[in-house]
Amino acid sequence: MTSALFSPFRLAGLELANRIVVSPMCQYSADDGSATDWHMMHLGMLANSGAALVVVEATHVERSGRITHGCLGLYSDDNELALARVIAQCRRAGTARFGIQLAHSGRKGSAERPWEGGGALKAGADPWPTMAASAIPFGDNWHVPRVVTEEDMARVREAFVSSAKRALRIGFDAIELHMAHGYLMHGFMSPISNKRADAFGGSLENRLRFPIEVARAVRAAVPKDIPLGARITGSDWREGGLTPDDAVAIAKALKGAGLDFICVSSGGVAADIRNPSEPGYNVPIAERVRREAGIATRTVGLIVKPEQAEQIVADGKADMVSMARCFLDDPHWGWHAAKALGADVARPRQYLRAGPTLWAPAAAKA
Ligand SMILES: Cc1cc2nc3c(=O)[nH]c(=O)nc-3n(C[C@H](O)[C@H](O)[C@H](O)COP(=O)(O)O)c2cc1C
Repeated sequence: MTSALFSPFRLAGLELANRIVVSPMCQYSADDGSATDWHMMHLGMLANSGAALVVVEATHVERSGRITHGCLGLYSDDNELALARVIAQCRRAGTARFGIQLAHSGRKGSAERPWEGGGALKAGADPWPTMAASAIPFGDNWHVPRVVTEEDMARVREAFVSSAKRALRIGFDAIELHMAHGYLMHGFMSPISNKRADAFGGSLENRLRFPIEVARAVRAAVPKDIPLGARITGSDWREGGLTPDDAVAIAKALKGAGLDFICVSSGGVAADIRNPSEPGYNVPIAERVRREAGIATRTVGLIVKPEQAEQIVADGKADMVSMARCFLDDPHWGWHAAKALGADVARPRQYLRAGPTLWAPAAAKA
């Protein structure tokens, strides 16, 4: 049996061994933006998960652009040094390639870690001022952000470029811009959170202006052979918000800015919005983006079973499939999916005895 999920895929100059991507997952375990031993353990574990690509969690381009006090950043030399140490070790010990997601939290910043409640930081917990497209809080009891000025836009754009250069120096194989889940970029794109009356609000073209400026600036700093992409929203899941039609238009605009891939996620633009709960809820939107924008497309969201992931790729609904929670539950998900689909994955030498022969009768006697 030939598996579509385990077929190789090329993104710009990057050869991926299969279509499985570990989705970026915040760990809230950094020290002033710097990776810690937790990241060594977490990313080290995922380096041998069978996924061709592991995308490192939302990594913030400025200190005040973090979501929580524990979020990862690439805004200082210390941040760069700490992440370089982790990634160098993961690459030595693991089989996966590594991407990084660059982000700015916007109005969802200055927040508690999920296990501390996940709301806005309270007085006494070192909260900081946030900013967003418009001065509208994310939800009840959230900080009111100040309105982003054109000076802020220029600074944030350069911060994205500077963090991308740091990521290149570290040796990341791919870079992804976080333009989903209600953070700064998505906040500009969505008519729910962007009520500006200037050149950065109103029509979709205007709302995309700042995110596209960022994408162009980062593209100019990232060599063509290193894949650069963006995670976008496929739907705001609210009347009057972004729709799958908009997602296609956003993907086309980002492709025009030189991006190589799009990851279609959704939701998160306001605190009271809930995503659908059916398996693969973003897949039909990804399929449209892939077909209509003609760009390499990844999807995510309640994809759990190997057969489900296989079908998505085999049917041409997405080129790559990313998964988050099931890799936390089963860090060898890729190995187990390979076994289920009659394929194989690279394993480190130390673990070769747990390869396919483990299941053959001869191996049982050895
Ligand atoms: C612990 C955790 C942290 C997350 N952090 C990020 C993140 O840093 N960036 C991002 O784009 N999505 C983040 N997400 C969303 C996931 O990448 C993914 O899109 C979502 O969990 C749906 O996929 P799943 O059903 O496979 O878990 C996070 C999800 C989890 C569970």
